[in-house]
Amino acid sequence: MSGRRPKVFISRELFDEAINRIKQYYDVEIWDKYYEPPREVIIEKASKYDALVTLLADKIDCQVIENAKSLRIIAQYAVGFDNIDIECATRHGIYVTNTPGVLTEATAELTWALILAAARRIVEADKFVRSGGWRDTKTAWHPKMMLGIELKDKILGVIGLGRIGSRVAEIGKAFGMKIVYYDIVRNEEFERKYQAEYMDLYKLAEVSDVVTIHTPLTKETYHLIDERFLNKMKKTAILVNTARGAVVDTEALLKALREKRIFAAGLDVFEQEPLPPDHPLTSLDNVVLAPHIGSATYEARLGMANLVADNLIAFYNKQIPPTLVNKEVVKIRPPGFD
Ligand code: GLV
Ligand code: GLV
Repeated sequence: MSGRRPKVFISRELFDEAINRIKQYYDVEIWDKYYEPPREVIIEKASKYDALVTLLADKIDCQVIENAKSLRIIAQYAVGFDNIDIECATRHGIYVTNTPGVLTEATAELTWALILAAARRIVEADKFVRSGGWRDTKTAWHPKMMLGIELKDKILGVIGLGRIGSRVAEIGKAFGMKIVYYDIVRNEEFERKYQAEYMDLYKLAEVSDVVTIHTPLTKETYHLIDERFLNKMKKTAILVNTARGAVVDTEALLKALREKRIFAAGLDVFEQEPLPPDHPLTSLDNVVLAPHIGSATYEARLGMANLVADNLIAFYNKQIPPTLVNKEVVKIRPPGFD
């Protein structure tokens, strides 16, 4: 490496502020299209570059990694990293970093936007006004028009009590909700602080008025929310997913929504993204849809870009990157480009 600046391929345009920081240490190439680089491009860039900045849509599997002889670090621009074969990267001594923390507020706030929109039928109501549906009722107000669900004194069931799940729960307390949660680990400090109750997944399904999902996508969480879970939910309950589409069995959810076995759903993530406009979910009134915008605020996206820069710069300076995912990699290769 000596005498040569490391080269980084950045798979989409980030904020200039962060790019300029990276440019102080690296030669930078940016994929400037709105859509993701095709697989051949990812394979080629991974094989020639010292560092990659990736998004969720960039699939970094073991084939990509095995071809990447000079690659030392993959700096993911997301908190989740289910697009990257972490175990394979570790074996090859490649550092993988992510962007936790900086998108917690944005994602928790979007979760609440979906909870409220689903509970009070905001999207359906907006359509009702615009389409002339309201005019056609010939009345300004009716005791039974657009009835929704109230949140105070209801139960918020949080699946996955990480940073985002905890923040969603904290906001839930402000609405006067009682918190129950399911996770692979218990958090007794959280239980004390928010009078929260830990419970089994299916018990949570039975008691919750709002179920909100905040787990990463892993083999264990794939289709965690299945027909059995949905069948246990209350008829008046809402399901919200701002985590990963594949944590929910879409077919089972469609069936539950069609048959009105739950009240509504709010979805920001899907098994297939982009969700095609003719997908059966789009024909239902009792679901609110968003195009994977959980972290889409200026604050979060800038914070994520700067955290990517922090990780790349620390690695360049032979330091352990601040948000390293595969900590075991340090035993295989020290940080830096030597
Ligand atoms: C987005 O989905 C992320 O993981 O940051
Ligand atoms: C992600 O930031 C999480 O821990 O929920």
